[in-house]
Amino acid sequence: NKKAFIFDLDGVVVDTAKFHFVAWQRLAADIGINFTEKENEQLKGVSRVDSLKKILEWGNKTLPQEEFDQKLIEKNNQYLSLIEGLSVNDILPGVHSFLLDLKAKSQPIALGSASKNARPILKKLGIIDLFDVIVDGTNVTKAKPNPEVFLSACSQLGFKATDSIVFEDSKAGVQAANTAGMISIGLGDQTNLNEADAVFQSFEEMPSDYIKTLLNTQK
Ligand code: BG6
Ligand code: MG
Repeated sequence: NKKAFIFDLDGVVVDTAKFHFVAWQRLAADIGINFTEKENEQLKGVSRVDSLKKILEWGNKTLPQEEFDQKLIEKNNQYLSLIEGLSVNDILPGVHSFLLDLKAKSQPIALGSASKNARPILKKLGIIDLFDVIVDGTNVTKAKPNPEVFLSACSQLGFKATDSIVFEDSKAGVQAANTAGMISIGLGDQTNLNEADAVFQSFEEMPSDYIKTLLNTQK
């Protein structure tokens, strides 16, 4: 009895959401836009390009293409400097043991992330080898809530969407999983993730035999 276990990266495996927020906030301030934590919530899971589009829209501003591209480079450089010291200690609570448990049960594991920084981040965390398949922002053209990233992950693992389970901290990601027909498990705030099939504050809050439960769950 096997299923495809697909993990989002930022906010699920590692606590990087706070660094994306800081980097976007600085960029917004640079162009005279006030950017709040509430707005940032709506950028979770959203691609780099789409995130800047939304910030500009909220601030009622436009940028010429060249400047737009330049701002994206600056944001990423800022973000990269913030995550420079990332290590095994930044893996979110309960994730490492959950992944090891899946490995022990010979369950297939994939990453399904919008980030173009996914591979270097997994390397810094020392867990890249636990993933059988990695689909990230360098592999997909359609951003979440489009299900492309998760559909690509499950097909590379050789599974049907209905035999796949997605772990997500973002509304856009939960919607992507649901649209694909996959089981969606939300990590974080219940109100924001109310469309998920189940929500936990962290992996530590899952019942001890939760993998077994998931293996017996049908969408
Ligand atoms: C998602 C994050 O995982 O990746 C977003 O939730 C981020 O905040 C997106 O914008 C793209 O990431 P990156 O690292 O390619 O800028
Ligand atoms: Mg996320």
